[in-house]
Amino acid sequence: MNRRLGVLISGRGSNLQALIDAIREGRLDASIAVVVSNREYAAGLEKARGAGIEALVLSHRGWPSRDDYDRALVRELKSRDVGLVCLAGFMRLVGAPLLDAFPNAVVNIHPSLLPAFPGVDAQRQALDYGAKVSGVTVHLVTPELDGGPIILQRTVAVLAGDTADSLSARILVAEHQAYPEAVALLLDGGWRVEGRRFVGRAVSDAPRSASAASA
Ligand code: GAR
Repeated sequence: MNRRLGVLISGRGSNLQALIDAIREGRLDASIAVVVSNREYAAGLEKARGAGIEALVLSHRGWPSRDDYDRALVRELKSRDVGLVCLAGFMRLVGAPLLDAFPNAVVNIHPSLLPAFPGVDAQRQALDYGAKVSGVTVHLVTPELDGGPIILQRTVAVLAGDTADSLSARILVAEHQAYPEAVALLLDGGWRVEGRRFVGRAVSDAPRSASAASA
């Protein structure tokens, strides 16, 4: 797989930073060709520029249709020879134009153990539901919201006394480990999708990140 990443963000960009750090530290053999934000003031844009990465704003507003916006994204990504599109807190549904242009090559990170708690405020959803365990999911993107084949998951315990903020902070630690790991797995190849199952090399599961996430 072409190891040039296109990272799409909407805000803070801490998962973007985790990818940047993993590349810099040699844990992820890839380069970030471009960072695109749909929001002008996303803090992640500065993180990208600070790392010498091209960062551009492509607002989702003002397009005749959602598909037109997706096609514009595709043009920006393809013109930079991107091979894998990483959604990193990109709070937009992506549709057919982008998914068809990058078959099985759009990946997302979500702060819950899918299929539990899709959509926004996943950490608060887990807390309000009374879940005792939540975590992080990295998955291939399909037209279904947070519904694509699961590449990797890490668990994070929900503790007595947790608030949405404290739980989010611990899940975020796990996210920052999981995303570079999942992207490396994808880029290394040797996997396939069977139905809705991602079949690849075995990835060691919860204990490592669960302990790291509670550190
Ligand atoms: C992360 O927690 C990510 O998992 C979540 O948004 C946050 C972005 O933070 N994404 C979703 O909820 C997608 N459904 P970041 O901008 O610091 O990476």
